[in-house]
Amino acid sequence: MRIAVVGARGQLGAAVVDECAQAHETIAFGHADLDVANDAAVAAAMARAKPDVIVNAAAYTNVDGAEDHPVDALNGNAFGVRALARAAEARGATLVHYSTDFVFDGRASAPYTESDRPGPQSVYAASKLLGEWFATDAPRAYILRVESLFGRAPGAAPAKGSVAVILNTLRAGGSPKVFVDRTISPTYVIDAARATRRLLESDAPAGLYHCVNSGHCTWLELAEELARQLGVEPRFVPVRVADVPLRATRPRYCALSNERLRSVGIEMPEWQDALGRYVQSLKSEV
Ligand SMILES: NC(=O)c1ccc[n+]([C@@H]2O[C@H](COP(=O)([O-])OP(=O)(O)OC[C@H]3O[C@@H](n4cnc5c(N)ncnc54)[C@H](OP(=O)(O)O)[C@@H]3O)[C@@H](O)[C@H]2O)c1
Repeated sequence: MRIAVVGARGQLGAAVVDECAQAHETIAFGHADLDVANDAAVAAAMARAKPDVIVNAAAYTNVDGAEDHPVDALNGNAFGVRALARAAEARGATLVHYSTDFVFDGRASAPYTESDRPGPQSVYAASKLLGEWFATDAPRAYILRVESLFGRAPGAAPAKGSVAVILNTLRAGGSPKVFVDRTISPTYVIDAARATRRLLESDAPAGLYHCVNSGHCTWLELAEELARQLGVEPRFVPVRVADVPLRATRPRYCALSNERLRSVGIEMPEWQDALGRYVQSLKSEV
């Protein structure tokens, strides 16, 4: 397969490039190479690259910034996906697009499935939901919701998500602030990238999949496991969502069920196992 990866220097994009390049001709487009918000540039780049598959890991990911810059969020997360879906249609290519747990309102008490009704609570979340809909304009689209990404593949810019902040603070001997009342299903970028490749190499039905590691935890539980695996003192500042003024609303309970992925033969490892492999990879870097 000839696979074009857009947003290729991001946390997830770099992992997808690394994974797909092991078995397929893979063309990486960083932000500087291709702005997905530019319809004509997307059409021209894909006409030149002639991919069988377009993987979209590009996104406007500044959740709080999106509240003040809604047009930028829409251009990156919605209209950019429309341009890629149209390019996929022009070539008869498959589109893989990543979305987020933030499309849900977080008021559930059991893991969300793909058939649960979204209820976006922020501009970022609404722009991502719109992107999911535009992705279905492609003749064949896999829409993979990921959540609380961690891990760093070669070629990725330094990670800036919450797991990276907790990890760096713990390693520096500090006490990170962690939510005690937000529940998540963390996602190791290496596992999400492998699942992406396996889906593409399978004849799994197109559509929406929750592509997260198995299980769920609060941010405090994740931080405790991280400290245990790093072998550092588990010192934290526990905080509640209501205590932290954030520009954009965060959903409180966002465990996602990955049963649908399992039903097509793709078993996602438990989040503790994934975190362990990540910590091991960091230790072997030193
Ligand atoms: N990180 C998480 O915890 C998380 C959680 C749920 C869902 N997701 C979703 O997972 C996907 C990957 O996220 P990530 O964490 O890997 O994001 P990331 O590290 O921020 O990477 C996104 C990449 O997209 C690029 N980009 C931004 N706007 C672009 C544009 N208009 N055209 C082309 N490239 C553009 C960015 O470049 P610049 O750095 O130059 O802007 C960056 O390289 C996204 O769809 C995101 O919504 C992420």
